[in-house]
Amino acid sequence: MQHYHVIIPAAGKGTRMNRAYNKLFIELEGAPLLAHTLNVFQSDDACQAIHLAIHPRDFEHMNALCKKFDKVTTLIEGGDTRQESIHCVLRAIDVKQDDVILVHDGARPFVSHHTIHKLIDIIQSQGAAVVGVKAKDTIKVVENDAVAQTLERTKLWQIQTPQGATYQTLFNAYTVAQQEKFEGTDDGSLLEYAGNAVHVVEGEYENIKMTTEEDLWIGRAFLNKRSNENHV
Ligand code: CTP
Ligand code: MG
Repeated sequence: MQHYHVIIPAAGKGTRMNRAYNKLFIELEGAPLLAHTLNVFQSDDACQAIHLAIHPRDFEHMNALCKKFDKVTTLIEGGDTRQESIHCVLRAIDVKQDDVILVHDGARPFVSHHTIHKLIDIIQSQGAAVVGVKAKDTIKVVENDAVAQTLERTKLWQIQTPQGATYQTLFNAYTVAQQEKFEGTDDGSLLEYAGNAVHVVEGEYENIKMTTEEDLWIGRAFLNKRSNENHV
């Protein structure tokens, strides 16, 4: 299996979780949310190193949490947006131009090794790629509280992380976006903007992002199910 590095943006505030602290420190069945995410990569033999973007306010707490994960080699001060945080890490890390770099949200603790490895294979054979699942709901464009368009569901995918490319491709996409003041909500949109074909790998519905309170209830249910099944 091809080795890879993973960048984990963890420098957000978690505003929509309504806590006085970064949502990544919320405990889920005995461990902080971020520790569950780090564990997935720590336990993957193909993962060479984990690079985190963090907020200076969280430095001590993050440093203590990461002590248990010896693959965490870099803690870099992030920026005001997810995009800026990842760019800060891309500028700081010392990797080879053709190393495979994945980006994975700190707030997505349920990604599987199977999905990560499928993504790595596609990045190696095809170039830039993202993980997603087929949309289950009908999605409409709404303007001024009225439907402007109903999109064809069979073509719609909900895009998750991880997402990735080789270092040179990803760093170039972030540089182009910064120079042209393009803001995207994921890495794939920056890669597209820079002119890359971005492939989609079918992932799992379980790979949800902990964004609002009810995601924590779902997350706890997943963890309970896994502990009953002795999930590794
Ligand atoms: N993130 C980051 N730097 C930022 C903003 C977000 O590294 N300036 C990270 C978050 O820590 C999170 C990931 O990007 O792991 C996905 O972002 P999101 O789920 O939106 O987290 P927050 O921005 O923290 O939450 P909110 O948008 O509710 O404030
Ligand atoms: Mg956010």
